[in-house]
Amino acid sequence: MAKFIKADRLAEVEISAIVLMSEAARQRRAEGHDVINLGIGEPDFNTPDHASAAAISAIHNHDTHYPPIGGKPELKQAVAALYNGRGGSKRSAENIIISSGSKYTLLNAMLASVNPGDEVIVLAPFWTSYADIIRLCGGVPIIVPTDADRGFRPDIKAIQSAMSPRTRWLMINSPSNPSGAVLSAEDLRAVGDIVAAHDQCWLLSDEIYEHIVYDIDFISVADALGDLADRSLIINGVSKAYAMTGWRLGYGVGPAPLIAAMLTAQAQGTSGTTTISQAAALAALTGDQEILISRQQSFRSRRDLVFDHLRGMNGLTVSKPQGAFYIFPSWQNLMGWKTPQGMTLNEDMDFCRYILDAADTVIIPGSSFAMPGHFRISYATDAASLKTAMARMSQAIAALQPA
Ligand SMILES: Cc1ncc(COP(=O)(O)O)c(C=O)c1O
Repeated sequence: MAKFIKADRLAEVEISAIVLMSEAARQRRAEGHDVINLGIGEPDFNTPDHASAAAISAIHNHDTHYPPIGGKPELKQAVAALYNGRGGSKRSAENIIISSGSKYTLLNAMLASVNPGDEVIVLAPFWTSYADIIRLCGGVPIIVPTDADRGFRPDIKAIQSAMSPRTRWLMINSPSNPSGAVLSAEDLRAVGDIVAAHDQCWLLSDEIYEHIVYDIDFISVADALGDLADRSLIINGVSKAYAMTGWRLGYGVGPAPLIAAMLTAQAQGTSGTTTISQAAALAALTGDQEILISRQQSFRSRRDLVFDHLRGMNGLTVSKPQGAFYIFPSWQNLMGWKTPQGMTLNEDMDFCRYILDAADTVIIPGSSFAMPGHFRISYATDAASLKTAMARMSQAIAALQPA
């Protein structure tokens, strides 16, 4: 068979531990185990009925032809209306791009702006895809850890020292996947001041978990950093808030020249987002928003349940997340401990494999988010499964033997 030669650009893009854990879980399930998956980053709710109905109408009305590349005017206008005037900035359709998921919006942004060797600062722990997307586009992710002991707040001094003449973007994500941390107005101002002081650097704010916050208000870059509107890109979408992950619809809000360049990239990628998903997204964004509140309440009680159980488990250190549907405990104090079978837990994957084998529960290694010594739990699942998983994990951890 002819030898396949993989492109160099994929050299550093590895199969993620999330995929490896899902594979291991599938295998264990096939062996007859009742596996609870706390690894998945999507809500267990359904798409709102009015959004689905709008999509069905679009099909019946034959709204099934090529879309405008950057999105249908009515959807772009609806998104622009959500942001117009905030932070003193006018926003119209030329400031908006609709893409097939906010992940694709991010890819467009990197394709449109990053030259080989350009640097992009990402704050660890961060969503796995950031570094891979930057690398795919020829960029160099510069990883700056947040302060885990202070609830994963940005380390402003460390960000300052990571800035270089090649820094093209500083990326932030609040509420954060995987830590659940939510940036305060002071955090945003401090990050904004760094960007403001470096002309070559722009700010990318991933606000996909905007509507999932507890105890405190979410603050958007649109409101807090209006002075940087001509150098910032907000990405968002309907996946998480409206449980519409499968519709693949996200959007970007930014200065017109950047959006135009992203459109050029998108034109050679997807040619635009499916018209049917756009109809559904328009209905979700402009229809009744009550579900955002009821779902937030539901996520909050699950967050409390999971947090209360985890902080009672000896050997774990856990910060209370203020948003998204993830919690990111440290298991560092258990490193080097032995399982009842005599295996030593040396790294994240050992710990997560042990929890899968001993507790039939899927959790994701912190190393996937550039912060080893931790693991991520997604609590976007029903309370009964969460309770069972917590009880099983607690038993499995109690069975470990000190080094
Ligand atoms: C932080 C973050 N940003 C973006 C996305 C991508 O969302 P989508 O492409 O479904 O809009 C995810 C999905 O897990 C995420 O966690």
